[in-house]
Amino acid sequence: MLFAASVIVLFNLAWAQNCNYAAAGVNVNWQTSNGMLTIDFSNGVIQNNEWTAIGFGAKMANLEVIVFKIVNGVPSVSTGFTKGYGPPTLDSNANVGVQTLMYNGNTLTARIVRPLAANGPRNFSLQNCMTWTIVPRGPLTNGNIHKHTTRPEAIPNVCPAQC
Ligand SMILES: *[C@@H]1O[C@H](CO)[C@@H](O)[C@H](O)[C@H]1NC(C)=O
Repeated sequence: MLFAASVIVLFNLAWAQNCNYAAAGVNVNWQTSNGMLTIDFSNGVIQNNEWTAIGFGAKMANLEVIVFKIVNGVPSVSTGFTKGYGPPTLDSNANVGVQTLMYNGNTLTARIVRPLAANGPRNFSLQNCMTWTIVPRGPLTNGNIHKHTTRPEAIPNVCPAQC
């Protein structure tokens, strides 16, 4: 009985999924329901006229991204992709749903929803496990993205379908 219980605990630990992340002032939680992925993103260190982002993929040069900008105190959400190490190329319209978006006292809070399966102009799917990348802060000039001032943080082996 005790043995069986231990095996179950070990099994659960081995299969425990990354469904949240907290570091560098950024908190992210994600969950999947009925094929839709909901991402709750909060950033308590972003300043006015800065950006922060969540990228899907391990290489900075090849990410699908969700970028949050604070321009003159007003938050906005964009999507896009990186190709090479320059700033991301943004879509003319964000390919995610935005359920919550607030910027108050240097804290950005957002709830983003998108299909887990292929979505947006690149048919980018989040069904497979992959590294997610968080950029806590970078500067904006007239709303344009400049190189991040904080190191990107990797969240390895995120399997959102299991959250
Ligand atoms: C995305 O999928 C649609 C429908 O299957 C297809 O027509 C389109 O070419 C795909 N686009 C890319 C970039 O793969």
